[in-house]
This record gives sequence, structure tokens and C-alpha cells, in this order.
Amino acid sequence: MDKHLITGGVPLQGEVRISGAKNSVLPILAGCLLTDQSVIIKNVPHLNDVTTIMKLLGQMGAKLTISEGLTIEVEAGSVDNPSAPYELVRTMRASILVLGPLLAKHGRAMVSLPGGCAIGPRPVDFHVEGLRKMGADITVEGGYIHASVKGGLKGANLKFDIVSVTGTENLMMAAVLAKGTTVIENAAREPEVQDLANFLNALGANIQGHGTSQIIIEGVKSLSGGSYTVLPDRVETGTYLVAAAMTGGRITTKSTRANILESVLNKLEEAGAHISSGEDWITLDMQGRRPKAVDICTAPYPGFPTDMQAQFMAMNTVSEGRGVLTETVFENRFMHAHELRRMGANIQLNGNMAQIEGIPQLMAAPVMATDLRASASLVLAGLVAKGTTIVDRIYHIDRGYECIEEKLAQLGATIKRVAA
Ligand code: EPU
Repeated sequence: MDKHLITGGVPLQGEVRISGAKNSVLPILAGCLLTDQSVIIKNVPHLNDVTTIMKLLGQMGAKLTISEGLTIEVEAGSVDNPSAPYELVRTMRASILVLGPLLAKHGRAMVSLPGGCAIGPRPVDFHVEGLRKMGADITVEGGYIHASVKGGLKGANLKFDIVSVTGTENLMMAAVLAKGTTVIENAAREPEVQDLANFLNALGANIQGHGTSQIIIEGVKSLSGGSYTVLPDRVETGTYLVAAAMTGGRITTKSTRANILESVLNKLEEAGAHISSGEDWITLDMQGRRPKAVDICTAPYPGFPTDMQAQFMAMNTVSEGRGVLTETVFENRFMHAHELRRMGANIQLNGNMAQIEGIPQLMAAPVMATDLRASASLVLAGLVAKGTTIVDRIYHIDRGYECIEEKLAQLGATIKRVAA
């Protein structure tokens, strides 16, 4: 298993290009299953999760062509095996996103249950219940969801008890080819949900209200082909900005957008960072100062993203003062706290709250990544720790950060990857 070796102490300086959003490209690639025609997706990040979903589509019978310039062409007209096996689903929960499109297009699907994961139980009951309301017959047997529908899905009124990102996406994709109107209440408003809706509309779907908590989908007979450019990754953007803030540096993130991460930028300003932005860039300047600790409460968009909680915990460990983080989206998303403590961080956990008392410097230690964002927080901690930190199990980070060591090295960090 590869490891990262990071020697701390360098304030980050320079420019970094932000990749396409992982959490947009995954549902968009799943959405390609809804049409027989060729679809070209641009600004695709090179990530392990993208490879997994490509394998998933490939084993179903879809034809995928990767071209230069971060582009993938998908032709799903040849799909003849509408199933997602456990071997692939267990490595990536987002594989559940093929359920809605397969059922809508092929009238049947067999998708492995994702099972537990490092950040809590994360069930898929909302996905299943919603599809049932649209007329699907669904049983769970042998660890697999077996879904079928006679005569096609029907539009329905659906309401989420808790906001669910992939739940909203799965049902929205299913509804695109359903007969009649589907209304999704308490829908997720995340930019990635909006991106998926814009993509589907570009292929001829009739979706309205995306970006609000009520999405209305008027079913259409079929979707066409087309081409679409994936949104920038707001979590990758935020991660580099936090890295710059923690190290007292000044960086510009390019090919990104400030309006998709306002809650994160507000917290960085509260921590003392100077932020300026243009149409497709954000500059953060810490002017060599130590950040001030901030309180954070995670919430669905436009609230503070749970996917940035671990990185802010890393920042708070070396900030001035005390910060309290409250995690309301997932249970058990504080695994990184135990590893940060191994580097000397002063963190007290109490249920879904973490209280962090900032210290002047962390000490390097061998630490282990437990999930994607937890690994990012350990890398950030390594950038400010005294000595060389070894982050093990970085396959987690490769799921969601394209070329992370190259990008950090470009900003002046001392980081390398070593094979175990
Ligand atoms: N939930 C249920 N039942 C369901 C679905 C969700 O109880 O059927 C609960 C979850 O257990 C959780 C809450 O609802 O407590 C919200 O979960 P959500 O469904 O929104 O999460 P997700 O769709 O599985 C996506 C992202 C995550 C991100 C969350 C929250 C993708 C592929 N994944 O997950 O991204 O943390 O939304 O914003 O879009 C990451 O990128 O590191 C990551 C984990």
C-alpha cells in the first residue's frame, strides 16, 4: 500500500488547477445509462472512483472511450447486463447511483447493497422507497437489491425525511424517463445535484427547480446524446485553500468557482484569511499569520459541507484559541481525530461534537487514513508538523484527489509517495 511522506513547515505559495468534481462526475456517468446515444463528458478528474464507475458501466456492456483532455465518451446503447456486482460496489458506495437509471431504462436492475462504511451505516432505504413509490417491485436477497418494473416507472410525489444527495440524484434520474410528473420534496440542493440536472436537461430531460428543495421532473420518452463539462470540485478547492491558510501561505486556485463554496470561504475569512475571487479563480492570502480557531456545524448545502469538516479540524489543531466542530450529517465521521491526536493535537470528542484547543505546532508521526476526507486532513496536518509525517493507506485519498502530491509539490510542499 502506498504511503505519503510529508515534511512540514513550508508556507504554500503559487497556483493550482482544480479538477472536475468527483461527486458530479459519478452521477453524470451513471446518468449516461439513460440514453442509447453517445455522450461526451469533459473535465473528468482522474480518480480511482471514476475508474470504478467506468468499470461498472463497462461490465454492463457500455462502450467507453477515454480521449486526451480529460474527456470520456460513453455509449450505453449496448448495455445488456443491468447489474452492479458486490466487488465494485463495496469499493464505492456511489455505485448505487446506477440503480435509478438502470430501472428507468431497462425495467430491471440488480445492484449490490453497499454495506457499512468508515463514516457510519449510510443506508440506501430512501433510494429504495422512492423507487417503490414510482411502481418498482424491489426485494433484497443475498446482499443484492433486485428491482424490476412492468410497463415503466410512473411519476410520484416523493419526500425525503433527511436530505440525501445521492438519494435525490438516483430518484431524479429514475424520474427522467418515468410516465408523468415526479415531485421531490426536501431535495438536496448541492451544486453537484444541480450539475446532474443541467446535464440531464442538456440531453433532453425536463427537470425544474434543481438548486431548490423542490425538484419537478416531467418524464420524457427518451434522451438524446450530447456533450457536457463537469463542474469544478468545491471540496478539492476548499482543501487546498485550508492547506494554504494553515501554512500561513498565499495561493490561487484556478478553474474553480467561489459561488459553490461560500460557507467554506466565510469560515476561512473568520479564521483570518484574505480572500479574493474572480469568475474562475479564488486567491487566499494568510500573510504569514496563524489562523484563528473556528466553530463549525455541518449541514446540507448551502450549509457547511461535511466533506470539509476533517480539513477544518486539522486547521483548528494549530490555530489560536478553541474551536468546536459539530457533525450533523454523518455519525462516526471523526476517525481522523484519533490520528491527529497521535501528532499531538488536543481534541476532545463528545458524541457528534469535537472540541479542539489549538497548539502552536503538531509533531510528525506515522498515521493511517481511514476515509477520503480523513486522509486529506492528515496530509494537511503533515504540512505543518515538525518532522516527516507518514500517512499510510493513501488509496483512500486517490479516490477523490487528482495528483495530490504533484499539486501540493507545485505549491512548494515537501511531499512524496512511496510504495510500501
Ligand atoms: N441516509 C439514510 N438513508 C438513505 C440515504 C441517506 O438514512 O437512503 C442518511 C445518511 O446515512 C446520512 C444522511 O442521510 O446520515 C445524508 O447522506 P447522503 O445520502 O446525502 O450521502 P450520500 O449521498 O451517500 C454524498 C456524497 C458524500 C457526502 C454526502 C453529504 C457522493 C457520491 N457522495 O453521499 O461525499 O459526504 O453526500 O454531502 O455524492 C465524499 O466525497 O467524501 C463523500 C463522502
